[in-house]
Amino acid sequence: MDSVTLRSLYLNFFKDRGHAVIQGASLIPENDPTVLFTTAGMHPLVPYLCGEKHPQGTRLTDVQKCVRTGDIDEVGDNTHCTFFEMLGNWSLGDYFKKEAISWSYEFLTEVLKIDPNRLAVSVFGGDETAPRDEEAASIWKKCGIAADRIFYLPKKNNWWGPAGQTGPCGTDTEMFIDTGKPKCSDECSPACDCGKYIEIWNDVFMQYNKQADGSFAPLAQKNVDTGMGLERTLCILNGYKSVYETDLFRNAIVKLEELSSKKYGETEETTKAMRIIADHIRTSTMLLGDQKGVTPSNVDQGYVLRRLIRRSVRFGRLIELPEGALSEVAKVYIEQYKDIYPEINENAEKIITELEKEVARFSSVLQQGLKEFEKVISYLPVKRLSGKTAFKLYDTYGFPIEMTVELAKEIGYEVDVEGYKKAFEEHQQKSHAGAEQRFKGGLQDNTVEVTRLHTATHLMNAALRTIVDENIRQKGSNITAERLRFDFNLDRPLTPEEIKKIEDYVNGAIQAKADVVCREMTVAEAKAMGAIGVFDSKYGEKVKVYSIGDYSTEICGGPHAANTGELGTFRIVKEQSSSAGVRRIKAVLEYKG
Ligand code: SER
Repeated sequence: MDSVTLRSLYLNFFKDRGHAVIQGASLIPENDPTVLFTTAGMHPLVPYLCGEKHPQGTRLTDVQKCVRTGDIDEVGDNTHCTFFEMLGNWSLGDYFKKEAISWSYEFLTEVLKIDPNRLAVSVFGGDETAPRDEEAASIWKKCGIAADRIFYLPKKNNWWGPAGQTGPCGTDTEMFIDTGKPKCSDECSPACDCGKYIEIWNDVFMQYNKQADGSFAPLAQKNVDTGMGLERTLCILNGYKSVYETDLFRNAIVKLEELSSKKYGETEETTKAMRIIADHIRTSTMLLGDQKGVTPSNVDQGYVLRRLIRRSVRFGRLIELPEGALSEVAKVYIEQYKDIYPEINENAEKIITELEKEVARFSSVLQQGLKEFEKVISYLPVKRLSGKTAFKLYDTYGFPIEMTVELAKEIGYEVDVEGYKKAFEEHQQKSHAGAEQRFKGGLQDNTVEVTRLHTATHLMNAALRTIVDENIRQKGSNITAERLRFDFNLDRPLTPEEIKKIEDYVNGAIQAKADVVCREMTVAEAKAMGAIGVFDSKYGEKVKVYSIGDYSTEICGGPHAANTGELGTFRIVKEQSSSAGVRRIKAVLEYKG
């Protein structure tokens, strides 16, 4: 069976049983700051599980894109993936255990034609939060599951959720394929990881809401939330050893074989590298192409994406992938998913451009970084890399700390990760201190020239984000009476056309004679009005926000010119590289006569 068939069998089965087929959501969760990614089908449905009315009714089904990065280091084995699709069906205060379990049984045995003697299930064994789930067990028995295939397990195994730190959760009943391997011991059960039992589906009976204080409050309604992993189920139905043999990965792996002239399965190393790249580039394609598109950066989702791409570059070297190979793999995925996830089609160009940019950013320093790594290792008296060195590999060569740890582990070395974190924080503080120092310098030199150049800096910052790239951020600023100097993130020089457009933008704002208005407000208010700048509590409860007409809104200590009309003509005199991925502009304000 292929993925297209399984998706449609599942959705149709539940559609026939009164479920509305809904659109899956973005990989970036809405209103849940406690997690980076959508990790389960129920995640986007939390408000409805809590009692809000869903516009499409009380029975829903969908396929949801999910990313889980907890096991990123396990990727390369038979089962782990960072991206996966979850098939799910929900009852929002509608049906409960009887229907949920009977339908699961019917789908598994009649639609997927799995022999009931190859199934095993687990139910909640009971504790102080909820009683032993005899009800679920008895429904399973009625369906036709033998008593010795029903396992009562504790909370660790049979309690699901919440997806973040708070939210809907409850006891569950999980379904497993019994691979037929002998029991590893008398206690062998689906809780055991010996490989006899492989989980394929989970029916959660969501009756509780986990509160911030850790307690469980009853939900307004009793819900059912089920989740079936597409990759794993396909693998089992087809009798494959690994998910990488399914049609979801097949084309990508064929492409990798073609590009690297190596054969999947040839050596353990090649197989692992190909699996890692196939997984990571699939996840990267999904993140870059998501409706809330992520781009590589040093924070949050962007950092995970960066790690995935950089890790792919590194493993690509091991199998001698030529330049541009990762984009070819991404193209395979775009083709594969474009009809299932239209956003992938819409963002196809962006996926490739952003991927190529990140690959280029890293490829150019990877070789040097690896040399540096080897050099340092050869001098070390102990098998432990200092935090400082790890930080240097990060700061100079863009090695994510996790990658340094992995490289070290491969040769039996440790990394002082705590020391790395310390070095990282010290560096942050230094650059903050530097910024404050420079800022103080600005305040002390409170001449009219400096004030005006400061206002011009805000305008130029806005121009860069409007004209060149909305992801541009200030990396440094230094103003004297003669000129402004401004550093910002960009991995290429500005074109002469862009420089001209930036000058025009700033001069346009000057000619518009816009008032510069300063307001005090809380950081939250500043964020809400779209202000840019350092959202740092160090600035105190209230911050000053300077708005220049509709051109710019920025958190800043000031001072500024009162009106842009005072500013003279803005001209960029130099644009150059400042450090890796950072450009520097010097500009002046010229006054006639
Ligand atoms: N939320 C449950 C899971 O992720 C069932 O969908 O397994």
